[in-house]
Amino acid sequence: MDERAKSLLLQNRAVLAKDIRSSYIMDHMISDEVITPHEEETVKNKATQLDRADQLIKIILGKDNRAFVSFYNALLHEGYKDLAALLKEASSIDIFGSGKVSSNGITSYVKTALCEGGVPQRPVVFVSRKKLIKDIQDSLYRLMNESGWVTVYGMAGCGKSVLAAEALRDHSILKDCFPGGVHWLSVGKQDKAGLLMKLQNLCTRLDQDCKYSQRPPLNIEEARDRLRKLIMRSYPR
Ligand SMILES: Nc1ncnc2c1ncn2[C@@H]1O[C@H](COP(=O)(O)OP(=O)(O)OP(=O)(O)O)[C@@H](O)[C@H]1O
Ligand SMILES: [Mg+2]
Repeated sequence: MDERAKSLLLQNRAVLAKDIRSSYIMDHMISDEVITPHEEETVKNKATQLDRADQLIKIILGKDNRAFVSFYNALLHEGYKDLAALLKEASSIDIFGSGKVSSNGITSYVKTALCEGGVPQRPVVFVSRKKLIKDIQDSLYRLMNESGWVTVYGMAGCGKSVLAAEALRDHSILKDCFPGGVHWLSVGKQDKAGLLMKLQNLCTRLDQDCKYSQRPPLNIEEARDRLRKLIMRSYPR
C-alpha cells in the first residue's frame, strides 16, 4: 500500500475503529475480492465491535492500494461519509485513479466517482441492455464540449434510472465527460418544501468547504441563484 494511504489509516485508526460496523464493510470488501473469507472469520472472532473494527484495519494495513480504495468505497456506501473524508486526502496520490479493473469490469476510479456522486448500484438481478447504454454514452460524448441534456424517457418503471446509472459505470465516460465528478439527484414529484430541501442539499454538496456561504439558502429563489453561481464557479464555460 502507498505510504501516504497507510499513514492516513494509521493516523485515523482509533476514530475509524470506534465508529465502524465491520461486518457491513467486509461484505463490500469480500465482493471486491480484497479480503478473504478466512480474514473475515478472524475479524468476526474478536469479542467486541471495537476489536473487530481494529482487526479489520490491521488486515487492510497489510494489503495493497486496492484494499484501501475498497475500504474507502465501503465507508461511503454504508453512510460513513465523515470517516471516508478522513481518508480522502489519499486521492491526491492518485491511488483512486488506477485503471485496475475488478472482476466485474469496473475500475476503482469508477467505484469511487459513483459512490461519491450517490449513483445507485446495479440491481442484484441485472439484465444488461448494451445497445441502449451505448446510445446514452454516445449522446454524452456528443455533448463533451458543449452544454446540453441527454433525456431518457419511457413508461414509469421501465428501467430509465437503471440505464442512466449503467451508462455512467464506465471509466472512459467518467474521465472524458464528467472530469469534475457526478451528482445523482432524484427529484420526482416534490412540493415546495421538498424541492427546497433538494436544492439545499445540492448546494451543500457543491460547497463542501462552505467557501461560498456558511448557511443553506432560505428559499427556492435564493437556492437557484446560489446553484447558478456555484456551478459557474466549479465548471466555468
Ligand atoms: N436492466 C435491468 N435489469 C434488472 N432489473 C431492472 C433493470 N432495469 C430496471 N430493473 C428493475 O426495475 C425497477 C425499476 O427500474 P428504474 O427505477 O430504472 O425505472 P424508471 O424507468 O427509472 O422508473 P421511474 O419512471 O419510476 O423513474 C428497478 O428497481 C429494478 O428492479
Ligand atoms: Mg427513474
